[in-house]
Amino acid sequence: MSRRGNTRRWLQRHVSDPYVRQAQAQGYRSRASFKLLEIDQSDRLLTPGATVVDLGAAPGGWSQVAAERIGPRGRVVAVDLLDMGPLPGVEFIQGDFSEQAVLDAMLALLPDGADLVMSDMAPNLTGVRDVDQPAALYLVELALDFAVRVLNPRGALLVKCFEGAGSQELRALFGRRFGQVLVRKPDASRDRSREHYLIGRAMLPITPSHSADRSEES
Ligand SMILES: C[S@@+](CC[C@H](N)C(=O)[O-])C[C@H]1O[C@@H](n2cnc3c(N)ncnc32)[C@H](O)[C@@H]1O
Repeated sequence: MSRRGNTRRWLQRHVSDPYVRQAQAQGYRSRASFKLLEIDQSDRLLTPGATVVDLGAAPGGWSQVAAERIGPRGRVVAVDLLDMGPLPGVEFIQGDFSEQAVLDAMLALLPDGADLVMSDMAPNLTGVRDVDQPAALYLVELALDFAVRVLNPRGALLVKCFEGAGSQELRALFGRRFGQVLVRKPDASRDRSREHYLIGRAMLPITPSHSADRSEES
């Protein structure tokens, strides 16, 4: 199908999508809000007063949900390549999370660590699986490395993943970092067949073999 045809099909799907309508009705910036709401309903990741990091935050649907749930005593530190309009309770950095300067700016905002790192980051999809899957995995690995650095002992990591080459290895890696690893597929993700979310909880102490793993991954 032509690029124009693809765009038309996307627009048709978008306007008839019940989650898009619900997001508009409830004042959420994206349908993605409902994925986080559903995951939080079952897994209770967002607790009052928590410090939450939102990686790949624009246009801000997850940040909105997080700020609502954690309340005025909590903080959301968000980052995205794209600009994002201001949201109450959300500190935003625009930049590429894979760049050292952006990472340093995030760390400077988190002197006391974080209780939840969540990543809905997704690369610009080309449609070529051999290109898209490694790009997506790379973003998950960045989120995981960051979480290992900043999470408090009782903290959790929530990341978007795509089923495909490397998925099993990624789950195994999560299993070496966390005592509990959960896979979630919220209803708002159903039409995105390969998309799912991984939750890591009960972070394990880094042992010498873990350190070796990290250098292998870099
Ligand atoms: C699916 S959208 C996130 C939607 C968001 N969770 C919401 O609820 O509105 C994925 C985002 O990841 C961002 N992203 C992808 N790679 C990134 C990177 N290297 N650094 C920062 N943001 C990135 C994209 O710009 C995009 O806005």
